[in-house]
Amino acid sequence: MATLAELEVEAKACTRCPLASGRTKVVFGVGDPHADLMLVGEGPGRDEDLAGEPFVGRSGKLLDRLVGEEMGLRRSELYIANVVKCRPPGNRDPRPEEIAACRPYLESQVDLISPRVIVTLGKFASQVLLDTTDGITRLRGRTYPYRGGTLVPTFHPAAALRGGDEVVAKMRADLVRAKRALNAPRPASPAPPTVPAPTLFPGVPA
Ligand code: URA
Repeated sequence: MATLAELEVEAKACTRCPLASGRTKVVFGVGDPHADLMLVGEGPGRDEDLAGEPFVGRSGKLLDRLVGEEMGLRRSELYIANVVKCRPPGNRDPRPEEIAACRPYLESQVDLISPRVIVTLGKFASQVLLDTTDGITRLRGRTYPYRGGTLVPTFHPAAALRGGDEVVAKMRADLVRAKRALNAPRPASPAPPTVPAPTLFPGVPA
């Protein structure tokens, strides 16, 4: 498998979907490549497209504040990425074919970073990683085992900016849930199948 740095080089030259033609910068992801916590958003907005970094606009500022206050973590101590790495024009929703084209980058990021906890921000990231069409209101409020770690869905910070105190309070509760999962032992991976010991002499116990 490629390293995270090699994957980033590949993504920065990517033309797998039409979003490539409208981007200023590919927003691959930032943070600690060995982080225990990974945050996954939807896709870059205008500020992120210009900066080449996820969540640098207004919703990013709220996200940084809530993660700091509820989890005691700074941006440099986690890893942040998006489902799609290039900005959809006019901030429209990413299309299924764009999500499908970009999905291998996100899945490789998750495998390479191997975080203990992933917090998915909003409907798109939660649906893509949990492979479901359920909405965020239904998905959030609990944790899910995910690739040897724990996935915690929550609202997108832009929804918290729009929705006010009630949504912010639920997001805070989800981040507390994520903090608890960070401090808990990793969920046990399924036990390997037991293979019977070979018998040299059939009928005679080894
Ligand atoms: N919204 C997202 O989902 N991701 C970003 O990087 C910025 C805004």
